[in-house]
Amino acid sequence: MTKYSDYIENIKREVKETVEKNIETYNYSHVLKQSMSYTALNFGKMFRATLCLGLLDDLQGSYKSGINFAGAIEMTHAYGLIHDDLPALDDARFRRNKMSNHLVYGEAQAILAGDALQAGAYDLVAKTDADAAIVLKLVTLLSSLSGANGYVGGQSLDIFSEHEDRDFLNDEIIKKIHYGKTGALIEVAVLGAGYLAAVDDKKMEKLKEMALEIGLSFQIRDDILDITKAEKEIGKDAKSDLKKDKTTYPKLYGLNKSIEIYKEHLETSYKLIKELLGENSHTYMVVSEMLKM
Ligand code: IPE
Ligand code: IPE
Ligand code: MG
Ligand code: MG
Ligand code: MG
Repeated sequence: MTKYSDYIENIKREVKETVEKNIETYNYSHVLKQSMSYTALNFGKMFRATLCLGLLDDLQGSYKSGINFAGAIEMTHAYGLIHDDLPALDDARFRRNKMSNHLVYGEAQAILAGDALQAGAYDLVAKTDADAAIVLKLVTLLSSLSGANGYVGGQSLDIFSEHEDRDFLNDEIIKKIHYGKTGALIEVAVLGAGYLAAVDDKKMEKLKEMALEIGLSFQIRDDILDITKAEKEIGKDAKSDLKKDKTTYPKLYGLNKSIEIYKEHLETSYKLIKELLGENSHTYMVVSEMLKM
């Protein structure tokens, strides 16, 4: 095992333990706790948590101070995935190599597990070991970008634009969908690290620019994998975007052109990371590891 993977594994372990401990406190409904744990403790790649904490380290903050915040992002993300798979949204059968939450616990408990994970995330943010002014910034960041002006807004446009005529869709619309449903939570990870490390406004702007590129690369890649990979490889339904006639890069531009566009955005992401943090940064390593095709 390389030194780098030890570093990432340590981050993951600490975030996992933190989320586990948080969920341990929800004993009101046995079935709710099971449903929450089923998805939120069956961790995926943990891209957002590792990006946030690796970046925090790069910015000379202590990554320990961001563990709760990174856990909160992963809980918010898990809620997003449970709701995304519901019959009313993507109607997906698999997630993280297991049956979707609602197929095990029923739609009602799955909806409620998502609700509870979203609320529970703020338990963790509130326990961040930082100045109150910084904690307040983190709360506002997460609430604004996971809500109507971020993740939920993007999901709404994603659903609204299903079966939309290709002639009606354009670059501006797809970027808005992708930025909201995926980029926004990645921006939370990046800007949260910026707040925790108390960087200045100018650097925050640069971080935001970097986050937008990483987020877009991430979702274009996901659109491509939906077509090119099998269920077993991605651990979730394959070809599901085609079934739902979703607004994806391959729908708008075809597969080959989408791969080109993905590579361009990934290159721009690398360029921005190098300029800001250097090629030997944790951020560079996390992004190159998790966004390779
Ligand atoms: C899945 O996110 C949803 C998208 C934004 C494409 P991830 O690909 O990060 O899923 P996990 O967390 O690793 O399962
Ligand atoms: C990505 O949407 C945004 C999220 C719901 C996290 P998708 O619908 O493409 O995500 P997957 O492919 O189901 O993971
Ligand atoms: Mg979706
Ligand atoms: Mg989906
Ligand atoms: Mg997808």
